[in-house]
Amino acid sequence: MNSLFDRVKLTSMAKKFYVTTPIYYVNDVPHIGHAYTTIAADVLARHHRQKGDDVFFLTGTDEHGAKIAEAAARAGKEPEIFVDELAPKFQEVWKKLNINYSEFFRTTNPEHEKMVSEFIQKIYNNGFIEKRSYTGLYCVSCERYYKPEELIDGKCPDHNRECVEQSEENYFFLLSKFQDQLIKKIELGEMVIGPASRKNEILSKLKLGLEDVSISRTNVKWGIPVPFDPDQTIYVWFDALLNYFTATKIYHKEDFWPADLHLMAKDILWFHAVIWPAMLSAYGGADFPLPRQVFAHGFFTINGQKMSKTLGNVIDPNEVVDKFGADAVRYALLREFPFGEDGDISVKKIGERYKNDLGNSLGNLLQRVVAMINKYNVKVDPSKKNLISDTVSMLHQPSINKLIEELRFDTALVNIWRVVDFCNRAINENKPWELAKSDKTKLDELLQIISEYLFRISEAIAPFMPETAEKMKKQLETLQPEPLFPRIES
Ligand code: MSP
Repeated sequence: MNSLFDRVKLTSMAKKFYVTTPIYYVNDVPHIGHAYTTIAADVLARHHRQKGDDVFFLTGTDEHGAKIAEAAARAGKEPEIFVDELAPKFQEVWKKLNINYSEFFRTTNPEHEKMVSEFIQKIYNNGFIEKRSYTGLYCVSCERYYKPEELIDGKCPDHNRECVEQSEENYFFLLSKFQDQLIKKIELGEMVIGPASRKNEILSKLKLGLEDVSISRTNVKWGIPVPFDPDQTIYVWFDALLNYFTATKIYHKEDFWPADLHLMAKDILWFHAVIWPAMLSAYGGADFPLPRQVFAHGFFTINGQKMSKTLGNVIDPNEVVDKFGADAVRYALLREFPFGEDGDISVKKIGERYKNDLGNSLGNLLQRVVAMINKYNVKVDPSKKNLISDTVSMLHQPSINKLIEELRFDTALVNIWRVVDFCNRAINENKPWELAKSDKTKLDELLQIISEYLFRISEAIAPFMPETAEKMKKQLETLQPEPLFPRIES
């Protein structure tokens, strides 16, 4: 039982929010699919900071394993040099997209390597690892074995790549021992899996039974050595998942454990929702705190097919940011379809959002309002909230907050844009240019209300479009108009 003093101290402490993205493979440069998850995590991190929470936002790169070793060999480079060249490409894109992560994690960090080694040793000591021989069909792009019935024409369903029969004598993690415990924790909501449809999929798969997983490799040199058998290296996924844990130690963020939210696409939900919590329980026992929520969004597709480096149909985030700016890309990706579902995305679609929602609706609104305030010499105080109180405001910030926290980004944006449209309509219907001649009081009131709404809009969009939010506030203060989303020649 906490003393009263402790309880008072606890309630006065800022809430903690720990959010992660997958650590992306550095076999190639980042693409827009990676940007999608990372932007979503950034929106959540910014939203929580805006609320006053203490945020730890972790992203990074996954740098060991056969896939990276193959890519390095293709490039004619040593893996160490190859990963050192590619990891910064991710950091550069995140900078360009205004991703304000707390730490950028690399699995080649020696502190991480040491902790992974200690972690696996402890699981081994706890009796959850056994040596066995295994023959199976392996997809190097996924870095995992498949069962024959999971393949489509003998190929990996995600990468359309031939799986190769691999035979190894290696160490197995006794995942099957965790079946009941995982089902219980998921059903009780101790670990939330989202969206609900994915939770049900995971639960039904779990109930069919779990197979133990091979967690070491004899034929992969580019990895962390198994401490109890240095001829083998640790399976890249075992090493990678641990980043979420070792990072809290490396960066002295132990009090952020467990993560509030692991974000990823559906391709790697199984690893996060099943293997990862089982690893943690094997390490720390059944009471070891598990991630609070694991959420899998859908895939970006191009003409219905998954966008991926392996399939060669990707959009380069640099290209779209150069063309439309970071905020427009952030907006368009999250606005296009619900987070959690698959959806087609293209440069053209981003361009349409830029032109319509951003240029014609929001940009135009601000420009018109600032121009009229200047022209008609109106005194406004946008941040005062004189005329629209929180209760009558059409922009209901608590609902927007809730939508963001439920990861319903598209709906949050739709709701904000309803207010943008409302303001545009209010101007068209009330015709300030006529009021200027007939009713100065009403004109002042109209422009005060609209500028208050613009101020609220700037606050609501800040997690999504941080630069635009700042520009809007500045223009409302200085009344120096400047197009937010200038016309782009196609
Ligand atoms: N390295 C592993 C993750 C280890 S996490 C402990 C990995 N890397 S990856 O580079 O393949 O990234 C996969 C993730 O990138 C997906 O889960 C998703 O977050 C993002 N996406 C990759 N392609 C995507 C789409 N086409 N659409 C949406 N997200 C995509 O897996």
